[in-house]
Amino acid sequence: MFNLMIVKNYDEASDMAFKVMKDYLKPGKVLGLATGSTPLGLYSRMVKDHEENKTSYAEIKTFNLDEYVGLPVTHPESYYAFMYRNLFSALDINEENVHIPSGMAEDLEKECQEYENLISKAHVDIQLLGIGSDGHIGFNEPGTPFDSITHVTDLAESTIKDNCRFFENDITKVPTQAVTQGIGTIMKAKNILLIATGENKAQAVKDMLQGEVSEECPASILQKHDNVTIILDEAAASLLK
Ligand code: F6R
Repeated sequence: MFNLMIVKNYDEASDMAFKVMKDYLKPGKVLGLATGSTPLGLYSRMVKDHEENKTSYAEIKTFNLDEYVGLPVTHPESYYAFMYRNLFSALDINEENVHIPSGMAEDLEKECQEYENLISKAHVDIQLLGIGSDGHIGFNEPGTPFDSITHVTDLAESTIKDNCRFFENDITKVPTQAVTQGIGTIMKAKNILLIATGENKAQAVKDMLQGEVSEECPASILQKHDNVTIILDEAAASLLK
């Protein structure tokens, strides 16, 4: 069941997302977090709230969706570096409560299994999601089985192109694989908050909300989740009937 909110622009979407998230910024809560451009406005609001209202993250746990294979945590475009730069460094979060899969593990299969086990035990209270222009969530590209768990995946050509902007617009620098929570992993979260803004997300948003539930649009599985909040700006909602 969707709780759908359509707002004017990215800033309003970020404000709205913060309002939803605020309820979960409490001791003992488990947050599922995402990277990419979409959550930046929300993260800056979380930082501001921490500074102004002293909201504490000392007893909050986090689990990220994914990480590139082959990028060390010291690489500025690793999702580990992204999370510390844009959120964690400014909070009083405990490093041991932060979970981001490693894309550098020698045994990636084992890393995936261990990550899956940790998430299953933790019970994510709210999972934040962006959506790819091809309908991906996490790095679950079209065709990924709905019952997938944390796994190593090849990035779709369109995702590599979309992410090129973070790698000096040089396609050869974009990693081609990632470790990602599976769709089955994401669906286990108690609540889901998906934000989509901009015209290039409009088709994926339409397929997610009004298309068939199909592995061709990974995000369409959210139609089967009981507690989903979707925040769109007008551009991302522009193809909805
Ligand atoms: C990020 C992630 C991806 C992004 C999606 C949208 O951790 O898992 O699914 O949410 O690629 O990216 P942006 O927000 O950059 O448009």
